[in-house]
Amino acid sequence: MNQPKRYTITAALPYTNGPIHIGHLAGVYVPADIYARYLRLNNKDVAFICGSDEHGVPITIKAKKEGVTPQDIVDKYHAIIKKSFEDFGITFDNYSRTTAKIHHDTAQEFFKKLNDKGEFIEEVTEQLYDEEANQFLADRFVTGTCPKCNNEEAYGDQCERCGSSLNATDLINPKSALTGNVPTLKETKHWFLPLDKHEAFLKEWILKGHKKDWKPNVYGQVKSWIDDGLRPRAVTRDLDWGIPVPVEGAEGKVLYVWFDAPIGYISSTKEWAERVGKDWEPYWKSEDTKLVHFIGKDNIVFHCIIFPSMLKAEGSYILPDNVPANEFLNLEGQKLSTSKNWAVWLPEYLEDFPNQQDVLRYALTANAPETKDNDFTWKDFQARNNNELVAIFGNFINRVVVLTNKYYDGFIPEPSEFSKVDEETLASIKAYPAVISSSIERYRFREASQELMNLARLGNKYLADEEPWKLIKTDEVRTKTIMFVALQIASALATLSKPFLPFTSTKLKNILSASPNTINNSWDDISQKDILLPAGHQIGKGELLFSKVEDETIQLQLDKLEASKKANAAENAPEATVEPQKEIITFEDFTKLDLRVGTILEAEKMPKTKKLLVLKVDTGIDTRIIVSGIAESFKPEEIIGKKVTVLVNLAPRALRGVESEGMILMTETPEGKLVFVNPDDASVANGKQIS
Ligand code: MF3
Ligand code: ZN
Repeated sequence: MNQPKRYTITAALPYTNGPIHIGHLAGVYVPADIYARYLRLNNKDVAFICGSDEHGVPITIKAKKEGVTPQDIVDKYHAIIKKSFEDFGITFDNYSRTTAKIHHDTAQEFFKKLNDKGEFIEEVTEQLYDEEANQFLADRFVTGTCPKCNNEEAYGDQCERCGSSLNATDLINPKSALTGNVPTLKETKHWFLPLDKHEAFLKEWILKGHKKDWKPNVYGQVKSWIDDGLRPRAVTRDLDWGIPVPVEGAEGKVLYVWFDAPIGYISSTKEWAERVGKDWEPYWKSEDTKLVHFIGKDNIVFHCIIFPSMLKAEGSYILPDNVPANEFLNLEGQKLSTSKNWAVWLPEYLEDFPNQQDVLRYALTANAPETKDNDFTWKDFQARNNNELVAIFGNFINRVVVLTNKYYDGFIPEPSEFSKVDEETLASIKAYPAVISSSIERYRFREASQELMNLARLGNKYLADEEPWKLIKTDEVRTKTIMFVALQIASALATLSKPFLPFTSTKLKNILSASPNTINNSWDDISQKDILLPAGHQIGKGELLFSKVEDETIQLQLDKLEASKKANAAENAPEATVEPQKEIITFEDFTKLDLRVGTILEAEKMPKTKKLLVLKVDTGIDTRIIVSGIAESFKPEEIIGKKVTVLVNLAPRALRGVESEGMILMTETPEGKLVFVNPDDASVANGKQIS
């Protein structure tokens, strides 16, 4: 597209069934915000749109579990999520919600229009039904085996392992998420969007039109779906939470959440336009608008196939120019998981790292899962902070600001003749906006963030090479020129860092703009103006932009995760089943057992077995061989010297040719590890009777 007139930038509407975590931020919201801020710095007309996705099955399941209404759930999380976005400087022009009236109206109107145009197929089909819960099962109400990849935990709308979009009836061995029952089939009428009808258009539009500029991960997924053949997809559901289907004969039915949610982009744009007194329509209907959807990879099919088919069927809308979907972010080597509490939640991060939003934004951008799944580790977070933000960016700014205050009371000195290095340095500043732009425009935000850091590196190197702190003693004139050049770099950083490190950029601008006039350079100014900060202008006092993250701080975060892991293990451990009590025995029966305290003297694996150890045990009576089935719980060397309880009068028997004379008493932890039953006091002598 040549020079668009305006931009509509959307970020996936988050589900309001929990707070958001670093995975959401890294995958969708930080890159989208960098892009939107970058465009605004370039004086573009931008609508950056988002809102809460408040319908759908997971929300009703959560409400049921907590004994509250779905509305209670969405009210709670809408507020929490909205605040997190504000806290992290995500600059949506509008953040709406899909329970808003404007959205219900917009979505119903959209549905009606498609219905009137005959774009749906109405069909009575057999759908999965839970007799006990009296409810049809679709989407997340049903799990089963994915017919494509055999993942046993696929959902009725999608398999999260292979990314396939599914119909509930596609699942092998379906199971109700409500009762665990095997569903039956029951007839019901639904409205279907015939995706097969749009196949030719999709092929033309994506496979031909966008082959080159779409990310390979996005293009590849879309291609494989289209190659698989598209089928009609139901866009209505038998549910009581959602937007009522606005046609006759659809009582008790609502719009499928994935039908209404993307329309949320449109209704949120309307809400914004109304508020700021603009016309919303060009942002969605004008060919010179560039529409970009920022999403995670699990949303690709909806944004590249289903929503475009809806927009095309409606007829008056533009289609996305690009859908730069990211892959997933893992945390310390494991998949992020809300239910397992394996996440870094944004509200918690801010409690532990107050005012350090930019550090997280930077660490997530520098390590963003742009082309493949990536791992967030606290060590990497620490390294990005300490080695880049503190040691390069912060250090450079600090030196410039401190020296300018020390030598010149904060007044920018008059330069004299520029050396060759000065000229080169000033020229490379001018080159940076284009370099960073080129990365951003190709949605390569990691690369862009590293280019920004390279500019700070350049500044650091310039100071280290020119050493104004030494030269001040011998050549005041030259020192002034050096400081002037360094201040130009600092000023360029203040502007160019804004999309990535917005809080830092503001702080830095304040430091550099104390008086008399505010310095507010645009992106283009950096490459066009010869002077970004004029001589004679006074800057303010320094303030540390970043501070070191200590090992202990990182350890606290790792400990938190370790605690989640333990809590999960305990929760998932099979419930300790208590065996029923055995038949009553007499005291005489009991006294027949000769139980003694003993010590394991030697232990060896029984060759060619997995479970057996051959033990030599001091029973106090004698030293004897006992074969014990404990090799999966202990290594031989770790049990030598252990006090144990031995049943010494058990009839000997041969195990794998080794005669075993007795039995060691054991029990088991919840995780299934065997442990010895032994005297509490290690001083009890071998041979002592247990009675
Ligand atoms: N709520 C969905 C998710 O979190 C995203 C919806 S994006 C929209 O996966 F297009 F439907 F809005
Ligand atoms: Zn699958």
